[in-house]
Amino acid sequence: MNRKYRKTVIAGNWKMNKTPTETKEFMTAFKAMLPKGRWCDIALCVPAVCIPAAVRAMRETRVGIGAENCNANASGAYTGEIATNMLVDAGCKYVIIGHSERRAMGETDADVNAKVLAALEAGLIPILCCGESLEQRELGITEEFITMQIKCALAGVDEARIRKVVIAYEPIWAFGTGRTATPEQAEDVCESIRSVIRKLYGSKIARATSILYGGSMNEKNAYDLLAQPDIDGGLIGGASLVPEKFLQIVEAANQPTA
Ligand code: 13P
Repeated sequence: MNRKYRKTVIAGNWKMNKTPTETKEFMTAFKAMLPKGRWCDIALCVPAVCIPAAVRAMRETRVGIGAENCNANASGAYTGEIATNMLVDAGCKYVIIGHSERRAMGETDADVNAKVLAALEAGLIPILCCGESLEQRELGITEEFITMQIKCALAGVDEARIRKVVIAYEPIWAFGTGRTATPEQAEDVCESIRSVIRKLYGSKIARATSILYGGSMNEKNAYDLLAQPDIDGGLIGGASLVPEKFLQIVEAANQPTA
C-alpha cells in the first residue's frame, strides 16, 4: 500500500451467497463493529437482490455498496440484465467488472470494455478484474496476458475517467482453493499492472491508481499481502461473508506504510 498517493480499498465480493434477510443480519453485525475514524475505503459487492437491504443498512456509514456485474446497454430487450443507471438509482457506488467467473460464462474482453465505459458514464466506480489461469502462469505468459486484458478493458477510457477505476488482480488458480499467491508473486503482477497504466496514462496517474489483490485473501494473510508497495487493498470472496473476518482484513489495511 501507499496511502500517500492512492486509496486503500478493501472490497468484498459475495458472489452467489446470502439472501436479503442474511444481508441485513450481516450488515447490522458489521456496522456495530466498524472502527471509528477513517482508515480505508470499504466496499461490499452483493447479489443484485441484496442491494436494497445492503444500501439501507449502510446508509450514513463509509461502506459503499456495489454490484457484481452490470449490462453495458442503457436499457432495452435484455431479459434478466441490469443497467448501470439502475444500479446508481438503487444506491450502488461500485460495480465489479470482468470477474473471471463471469469471463468463464462467456464474457469477452470487448464486453468488459463496454461495461467499464458504461459504468464510468453512469458515475459508478468499476472494480476491473484481471488474472491468469494456472496454465498461463506455467507457460510464463502471465504478464503478457494481463497486459492484454488491461489494455482491452481500458480502451477509450480517457485520463479524466481512469482516476475512477480500481483494478483487481485475481489469479484464477488462487481462489476458492485456499492457495494464495505469495505476497511476492502478487506484488510482481500488481507492479507490472502499474507499469501498464504508466505507459498508457503517465506516471502521475499510475501512482494514483489503486490496485487490489484477490484470491484466498483472508484475515491471516492480509497483513503480509497489504504490506507490499503495489498492493493497495483486496477483493475478498469467502472471508467477506463473515463480519469478524472481513473486519480483521479492514484492520490489516490500517498498518503503517512506507
Ligand atoms: P476467494 O477470496 O473466496 O478466494 O475469492 C476471490 C475472488 O474471486 C474475489 O473476487
